[in-house]
Amino acid sequence: MRSKIIAGNWKMNKTAAETARLIGEIRSALEGVSGVERVVCPPYTSLAAAAEALKGSSIVLGAQNVHWEATGAFTGEISVDMLREAGVRFVLVGHSERRRYFGETDETVNRRVRAALTGKLHAIVCVGETLKEREADTTRDVIERQVRAAVDGLAAPDWERMVLAYEPVWAIGTGRTATAAQAQDVHAFIRSLLKDVAGVEIAERVRIQYGGSMKPENAAELLAQPDIDGGLIGGAALQADSFAAIAKAGL
Ligand code: PGA
Repeated sequence: MRSKIIAGNWKMNKTAAETARLIGEIRSALEGVSGVERVVCPPYTSLAAAAEALKGSSIVLGAQNVHWEATGAFTGEISVDMLREAGVRFVLVGHSERRRYFGETDETVNRRVRAALTGKLHAIVCVGETLKEREADTTRDVIERQVRAAVDGLAAPDWERMVLAYEPVWAIGTGRTATAAQAQDVHAFIRSLLKDVAGVEIAERVRIQYGGSMKPENAAELLAQPDIDGGLIGGAALQADSFAAIAKAGL
């Protein structure tokens, strides 16, 4: 059985002081809740404050990106060791906003994924089609290309730390969610790709989150689908009560 995993992608929101406050609120809202893995991914400058605020909590710290090189002349980037030192265990890779606004490609996604996993971080790798691609009936082609490229060259033990997130671009931050059936259809397709790439055993173990306007009102139905193993939450992760409600919906 795959355990559910709910992650908050805070994007470019929350200063260090605001982070400490929000984590305090999330901790109280989720007090006594177990059985669903919870991750928060604040911006880099808030990681230290987040690590401090998470002391003694089972909520895990994540970051929003990582570079594939260990050190060097890569202005604006951050390394695996820097993240690990800050207490980070999870990292998002290939979010559609990185692909769309910052030139992230299937190839750079793969390099980041491999560096993260080799460096013993857990990776949450995002894939998803645009509205144009869905309307042109190319969703499966796009997902297949993105998934195969992202996981290219992974060694069997790396898969233990691999999470995928299906995030239709047209559902991100738009309030428009994929229906449970639409999401389940793509999740099952992703799992079939994983079977082909890594074998049945690994494919059955890897968790696939849904992301794109997941909120307390739609979380339970999405999370009840057989191949939806959690959520990657943007907007609704910035309020302790909605993040907690989504996490509880995954129980
Ligand atoms: P949203 O963002 O929940 O605000 O749609 C999800 C994401 O971008 O990961």
